[in-house]
Amino acid sequence: MASLTVRKLDEALKASLRLRAAKAGRSVEDEVRMILREAAEPQDIKAPSGPARSQPQSHRARAASAADLPRVTLIIGGGIAAYKALDLIRRLKERGIHVRCVMTRAAQQFVTPLTAGALADERCYTDLFDAQSEFDAGHIRLARDTDLIIVAPATADLMAKMAQGQADDLATAILLATNRPVLVAPAMNPLMWANAATKRNVAQLARDGVSFIGPNSGEMAEANEAGVGRMSEPTEIAIAAEAMLHPPHTGPLAGKKILITAGPTHEPIDPVRYIANRSSGKQGFAIAASAAEAGAEVTLISGPVDLDDPAGVRVIRVESARDMLAQVEVALPVDIAIFAAAVADWRVANAGEQKIKKTASGMPPLQLVENPDILATVSKHQQNRPQLVIGFAAETQNLIDNATSKLKRKGCDWIVANDVSPASGVMGGDRNTVHILTRDKAEVAVDSWPMMTKEEVADALVAKIARTIGQQNS
Ligand code: C5P
Repeated sequence: MASLTVRKLDEALKASLRLRAAKAGRSVEDEVRMILREAAEPQDIKAPSGPARSQPQSHRARAASAADLPRVTLIIGGGIAAYKALDLIRRLKERGIHVRCVMTRAAQQFVTPLTAGALADERCYTDLFDAQSEFDAGHIRLARDTDLIIVAPATADLMAKMAQGQADDLATAILLATNRPVLVAPAMNPLMWANAATKRNVAQLARDGVSFIGPNSGEMAEANEAGVGRMSEPTEIAIAAEAMLHPPHTGPLAGKKILITAGPTHEPIDPVRYIANRSSGKQGFAIAASAAEAGAEVTLISGPVDLDDPAGVRVIRVESARDMLAQVEVALPVDIAIFAAAVADWRVANAGEQKIKKTASGMPPLQLVENPDILATVSKHQQNRPQLVIGFAAETQNLIDNATSKLKRKGCDWIVANDVSPASGVMGGDRNTVHILTRDKAEVAVDSWPMMTKEEVADALVAKIARTIGQQNS
């Protein structure tokens, strides 16, 4: 009954049904059956339709916007294993990876660009000179506008061209023009794979920095043939791609979770006015960048600042001290916490819901109340106190004395003390002179560092943290 209905539909509807079916990996008839079944189900128990929606999506896939997703360019070569490349698109997408497909002319003998484009949610590119391409010099853009290139299946011919640096079609031109990592999944007859020419090409490509997955051994498409030459399974390729896109963190803080606060807080007076301070957030952001480079998993909770997110750092932007504390509580537990934010000590108790108006009766009665002390709260946390808690002390006088009493009062392990008197130029500036106060029971030791850029201070602080954590854990 369903197929009868399909034949009677107008062309535009049929085309959109075909596309929907291709995306879901079903025949058009099955797709129609699915639509009818869904329509017949009561609304509140309706199941999601088709693999495109019902596939398990990684957290990364759900949380990240399309622009944040890691991007793969999948070059599909002309072999019987090209059909598996279609499944590979799905396996990559369910890992939260954006996929853009390119097909060689030979690949189009096995699978269609329409199917690959439908599965990838983006048109499939096939021609070096493509009037429809939205890119100027399309092969250059396609070669660079990606985080990883996968060639699957990589035929013996395609690998020979790659090894020689030929660029006479879109796929090979992309491979020659790219500066991104390349993962190759060979697929061919075992005799072709064993051929000395193929071995030479594979060795050359490996020397050129190309990564390989497979081929596996097993049955061939040709009757009664078996051996090494089967393309790796799509899941294996997707796992290898994921490892190349997200290499395991290495470095002295690998495996450590670090929480950092930075910047000022804004405490509202009314919807348009607030209390703030001159903190730029530069020092906290520099520490976050250094810690991420040292391999840590970094969460940076920042008040309003005019700085870009450091690479590899999860940044949460907040306004007030109370917002900051709430996000800090959510980020716990962590191994190390560094409180570099210049949190406002007070907020307005009676912040106006409307803009406060000038009146003849004088100044508005602004009543201040104390903000929660985030550093002290976390230092005294019963269940979730980090192994190392570091506070900052920004002082304009009696720097070491004030920092020492702050270390004891707040219950943290270290204080990074800096002079923020206007003459020092620290607030908003690029340099900092810091003194590191550490505590061994009642004893406080002071380590004074020379003036450095905020990045250098960050690197030195992270190195000191790594040494300390290493010693504590050994
Ligand atoms: O008391 P003071 O503001 O000088 O303390 C500075 C240190 O305490 C910094 O590490 C700052 O991030 C932290 N702090 C906090 N919450 C507050 C006030 C300060 O975490 N409400």
